[in-house]
Amino acid sequence: MHNKSRISRRDALKMAGVGAAVAAFPFARPAISQGAPLRVGLLLPYSGTFAALGTAITNAMDLYVKQQGGKLAGRTIEWIKVDDESAPSKATELTNKLVEGEKVDVLIGTVHSGVAMAMAKIAREAGIPTLIPNAGANVLTRAQCAKNIFRTSFGNSQPGVAAGEAMIKAGIKTAVTYTWGYAAGEESVDGFKQSFLKGGGKIIKELRLPFPNVEFQAGLAEIASLKPEGVYSFFAGGGALKYMQDYAAAGLKSSIPLWGPGFLTDGVEKAAGAAGEGVKTASHYVESLDNAENKKFRADYNAAFKMFPDVYAVQGWDTTHLLDIGLKAAGGDVKKQDALFKAMREAKFNSPRGPFRLSAAQNPIHNFYLRELKGGQNVFLGVAATDVSDPTTGCSLA
Ligand code: BEZ
Repeated sequence: MHNKSRISRRDALKMAGVGAAVAAFPFARPAISQGAPLRVGLLLPYSGTFAALGTAITNAMDLYVKQQGGKLAGRTIEWIKVDDESAPSKATELTNKLVEGEKVDVLIGTVHSGVAMAMAKIAREAGIPTLIPNAGANVLTRAQCAKNIFRTSFGNSQPGVAAGEAMIKAGIKTAVTYTWGYAAGEESVDGFKQSFLKGGGKIIKELRLPFPNVEFQAGLAEIASLKPEGVYSFFAGGGALKYMQDYAAAGLKSSIPLWGPGFLTDGVEKAAGAAGEGVKTASHYVESLDNAENKKFRADYNAAFKMFPDVYAVQGWDTTHLLDIGLKAAGGDVKKQDALFKAMREAKFNSPRGPFRLSAAQNPIHNFYLRELKGGQNVFLGVAATDVSDPTTGCSLA
């Protein structure tokens, strides 16, 4: 799907029968003027298991802009949306479509770590201002960090570390991990292992399923026979919902507590019903956070979309907020990269998730919360850790 807010120049020219001319003499990027819309490319999943995540991010970004009167730093915003289908194999082509084809001024993407890594390679080479509103691939804010790339979500290891500590505190000493076997799952489990092993825990077995496979039965049968004291799992979106349902149907829910990063329950709290009751997670967001930004954000989002926001929406909101701060410092001109990037790098604001600022590698420093799914809501159990920063290992922004 290539869903755009308006017809692109290229499509318009094709319709006029001059496509060949476009290929031979591509349009130059128009001169930036205060009056021209800012073209923001959105590389996000709008189909597949992460479709709801892409939609939540998009909704929140659009809401933020509308609340600023439809403009950021005096520029109207034109979203140019591309469905990346969470397919790493399509990521290079689709990113090029936005950067080279559509000549967007700013790139925002994406949800899936594998897609984000391919996208970031192009973004680094092109030097285009880029914001990552979800994908947690550690390397993007470690060895492959870049001056023009900002992440507003988390690093994949972060929730795993918080969950591992909490499981140890809950008295769990043996665990099985079960995850999608791609960067996000592997790094989430790595984070979990760091703190769980440090606390004296033992990993009995590490189970994996290729993304986006949802045939969980074989792994669940193994968990039943291994009888660990707890399970740590990374799944998200539609896949996480089916996992919780299958976990309960396999009869494991009452005997082996299920833990994970917040993504295991985010956005599917209500749909999970009884199958989700008691699932414990660690996340940088909880619905009930008692701060003014969260209360207003939840009320406004609900008024606009007739549903309450989840962590993905919060990340979308913070993405546009960060961009807004940068644009204001640059007078709305993304070519003034020194001013744009400096303001974004140094930004500090109150997010619905709590205090938000960026590390030296341009990844969030934020709080982590423990939650338990009860009655269709992630209920706040306590603060796991404050001001958590992912290691900036190997990052040099010079
Ligand atoms: C990831 O691929 O980085 C990811 C996807 C969904 C939720 C969290 C992380």
